[in-house]
Amino acid sequence: MKDDEMYPRRKDEKKRQMFDSSEAQKAIENVLDDQTMDALLKAADRGLINRMHGIIESGKESALLLADTDDGLAAVKIYMKRAGAFREMYRYLKGDKRFRNLKNDRRNIINEWAKKEFKNLKKASNIVRCPEVYGLQENVLVMEFIGEDFRPYPKLKDVNIENPESALKQTLDKIKALWIQEEIVHGDLSEYNILVEKDSLAWIDFSQGVHKSHPEAENLLERDVKNVVNFFNSQGAETKTENALDHVFSNS
Ligand SMILES: Nc1ncnc2c1ncn2[C@@H]1O[C@H](COP(=O)(O)OP(=O)(O)O)[C@@H](O)[C@H]1O
Ligand SMILES: [Mg+2]
Repeated sequence: MKDDEMYPRRKDEKKRQMFDSSEAQKAIENVLDDQTMDALLKAADRGLINRMHGIIESGKESALLLADTDDGLAAVKIYMKRAGAFREMYRYLKGDKRFRNLKNDRRNIINEWAKKEFKNLKKASNIVRCPEVYGLQENVLVMEFIGEDFRPYPKLKDVNIENPESALKQTLDKIKALWIQEEIVHGDLSEYNILVEKDSLAWIDFSQGVHKSHPEAENLLERDVKNVVNFFNSQGAETKTENALDHVFSNS
C-alpha cells in the first residue's frame, strides 16, 4: 500500500472513535466541510476534545456542537464559510488593531474570526460570567458548556426575569466595565446572546466584539446598550435609554 492511502484510513478510524454514534457522525459531517473535519480531528489529536455528541444549534455563521473532554462537557463552536458573511467579517476584523495583518483570503478570515471570539472571551471573563475558553484549532473553538442535561441554559428572551430593573443595572455596569477595563465591546449583545444560568446571566457569542479603537466600536456600544434597555424595559424595568447611555459612556 502506498503511504498516501494510509491517511484516509487512519482518518476513518479516528472518526469512528470520535463520534458518539453513527447518527451523530452523519449529522455533523453534513454541516462540516472537509477542512473543518480535519481541524476537528486535529483538536482531538491535541486532546482538546474526546468524543462528539451532536449538534446543539446550527446558525447562519456557526454550528454549535457538544463534546466530551477530559474535564467534562464542552461546547464546540465552528465558524462556517457562508459566502454572504465575508464582507462583513472582513470589515469588522480590519478595523480592529489586534488584527491589522489580516490577509483577505476566505479560510484565513474565518480562522481569524474564530480567534477574535477566543480573545474577546478571555478578556470578558475578567468582567462577566461567560464560557471559559479551552482552546482553538483553526475555525474550531472549544469552550466551557454552559448548560445542564446536555442542553444549554435558556436564552434570556425565553425566561421571566424576577427583577428586571436590577438585572438591567448589573448588565449596564458590565458593559461599562468591559469597555473601560478591557477596552472591548460585545457588539451583539441582546436577549438572544445571554443565557440564564440559575441566578446569573452568562454572556455568549463574542465574535462580533471589537477593540475600543475600532471605528465602529462606539456605535456597537450604543446598540448593545439600547438592546438591553429595550429588553429589560419590556420586562418591566423603567430605565430611560438616555440615562443608560450616559451611564455607560461616562468615565465615572
Ligand atoms: N458555551 C456555550 N454553552 C452552552 N450553549 C452555548 C454555548 N455557546 C453557544 N451556545 C448555544 O448555541 C447557540 C448559538 O451560539 P452563538 O455563539 O450565539 O452563535 P451564533 O453566532 O450562531 O448566534 C446559543 O444561542 C446557545 O444556545
Ligand atoms: Mg448568538
